[in-house]
This record gives sequence, structure tokens and C-alpha cells, in this order.
Amino acid sequence: MKGLILSGGRGTRLRPITYTSAKQLVPIANKPVLFRVVETLVEAGITDLGIVVGDTAAEIKTAVGDGARWGAQVTYIPQPDPLGLAHAVKISEDFLGTDRFVMFLGDNVIERGIAQLARQFAQSDWNAQIVLTRVQHPEQFGVAVLDEEGRVVRLVEKPREPPSDLALVGIYMFDHNVFEAVHAIQPSWRNELEITDAIQYLVEHGYQVYPYVHEGWWIDTGKMEDMLDANRLVLEELEPRVAGYVDTSSQLCGKVVIEAGAEIINSTIRGPVIIGEQTRIVNSFVGPFTSIYHHCEIIDSEIEHCIVLENCHIEIDQRIENSLIGRNVEISRSPLKPRALNFMLGDYSKVGVLSNSR
Ligand code: G1P
Repeated sequence: MKGLILSGGRGTRLRPITYTSAKQLVPIANKPVLFRVVETLVEAGITDLGIVVGDTAAEIKTAVGDGARWGAQVTYIPQPDPLGLAHAVKISEDFLGTDRFVMFLGDNVIERGIAQLARQFAQSDWNAQIVLTRVQHPEQFGVAVLDEEGRVVRLVEKPREPPSDLALVGIYMFDHNVFEAVHAIQPSWRNELEITDAIQYLVEHGYQVYPYVHEGWWIDTGKMEDMLDANRLVLEELEPRVAGYVDTSSQLCGKVVIEAGAEIINSTIRGPVIIGEQTRIVNSFVGPFTSIYHHCEIIDSEIEHCIVLENCHIEIDQRIENSLIGRNVEISRSPLKPRALNFMLGDYSKVGVLSNSR
């Protein structure tokens, strides 16, 4: 089987982070989401990988390279415009040939991987396997309707009135018959060739589409809140490890990973937390569900339930919570009066400040 990873898209819901970087490269527990996807496929024995790339192609190629690091081979497939998931399949026909394949969205994270599912599909004669999960807001996803015997009856993309709460997870398995479907369907109202419509075509034309209902967690990391959720869930699965330096006046509680070259000085780290390589935490508190990436400095500060990207400097006497902080950010106290907030923020930044009236 081959793997097709979709890593195009503009990541508009993650601006301003995605002005300068691909959303698939934002780290969850200090590892880019896309690397987690590659690992999930390699773990399932799938090493011949195609990655569909768009505007952020150069950055993705630099980060992933030829895949040798994971024992995989990567072929890049350019998608000039984000014209939909089925369009991505269409332009990958030469790479995929007649092989069965798994298509995985490059910003999705799933509990327990897909090894068993992929094996099941590889050995079956099904034409497609779709992964479904129950969600609270099905109107935001592709939605499937199953009959009493659990067979797929109908699929709809982002229905205003969802016929079920079973959402299509961004992981799909197909044989070559999917090409007939992606060539036959028409663009949707959002001018995309929807993979949901291609699967509906397969169902209507008598192909065997087998549904699997996933019970664990799954996160499509499109928005900041989803990123923080995924970070929380992945951190909970980490094995504690201290490869850096922790001085005697510091305290580590719970699941904490301190990566090589990191220094914890006179601070409390309450896990689950990961502190990246060469990062320094000094006189600070790092609370649960926080990932601090490499080469950061957190000084005289308190931070909890956050993702902080590389090279940040944080030195502030107010607690920071529920935040995604981009690369090379500085947050510090201003020594000058008047007591005023002082910002240099990118377009579409979001800042929450406690108002004086409360
Ligand atoms: C896409 C699919 C949708 C699926 C979702 C999973 O949505 O079109 O059917 O449920 O991925 O993440 P999009 O992210 O393009 O809105």
C-alpha cells in the first residue's frame, strides 16, 4: 500500500502563525503534526509516501526531506491551488498507479494510529474504507449515514442539518476505482472537489465502501483550540524523561519530559509538560498541558496550557494560559512608565487582556 498525505491548504484559521509557516509544521508536544502523520503511516508499514503540497511546499520539503529519517521514501506532488481533497487524489494518479492507498490529512492526529485498520484494508477486497467518529458539531465535517447493518448509505459534506453525528475523519483508504469517482464528480459550492462526493459516487455505483467507527480521540488541528486539545491529549501519553539539567531547587511533578540541553533553574514544572532542547526555565512555573519548543527562555513567569514555538523569550509577572505563541516572540515587562501594554503583533493576532472593570 502507498500513503498519500495532504499538506497543501492555506491554514487561514491559524493566522497569524500560518503567514510564516505551514499549519502542518506547528508542533504538538514538540513534534510537528506532519511528522506524527508520517510516523503513523510508517508504523502501519506504509513507507512509499506521496505528499501533496501547495504554497508552503518549500518549507515542507525542507522539514521532511526525502523521508529517509523514518525509513520512508517521499515523493512531492504539487497542487497549484487548494481545489479539494478529491482534486488532490486526481493529481496523484501517476504516483498512486493501481496500488491501494491510505490518504491522510497532514493536520490530523489520531489516537492509537492506523496499523490495524491499514492491515485489514490491505487484505480485503473492499474498494474503500472510511473512518468515522461521533462528534458534537457534525455540520463542520463530512457526515455519513449508516443503515441498521452498519453499511454506508449516504455521505454529505458539511450539511446544514446533519443526518447523523458520524463525521468523516481525515483518514481514507481506497483502491484505484476512486479515480473513476474523482473524474466524475463536480466541484461543490465552495468550488472544491470533495472527497465526500467521490465516496458517495462509489457507494452509488455499487463499489464496496466499508465504514469503521473510531472510538478513541481524533483531532483536526485547524484552529488554535484544536491545537491545544491535541497537545493536551498527546502530552498525556508521553513517557517521562529527563535528558536536560534540573537544579536542586526545582521540582518536577507528574509526567514531564526535559529534552537534551534544556535547563530548569529554581522552577516548578507540573506535568504533563515537555520542555524542548536548549530551552531555559528560570524562577518560573510551567503548569499542566504545556509544550515549550526549543531555544526558548521563560524567566520569572507562570505559564499553563500553552504551546510555545521556538526561540521565544517570556519574562512577565502575569500568568499566561490557553495560548499558542509563535516563533521568536518576545513577551516582557516594560521598565518605563506609564503602565501601558505595548505590542507589536502580526495581522490577525489575538490578545486577551483582563479588563480593569472586573
Ligand atoms: C475535510 C473533509 C471533511 C472531513 C474533514 C476532516 O474538511 O472535506 O469531510 O470531515 O476534512 O478533518 P475540510 O478540512 O476541508 O473542511
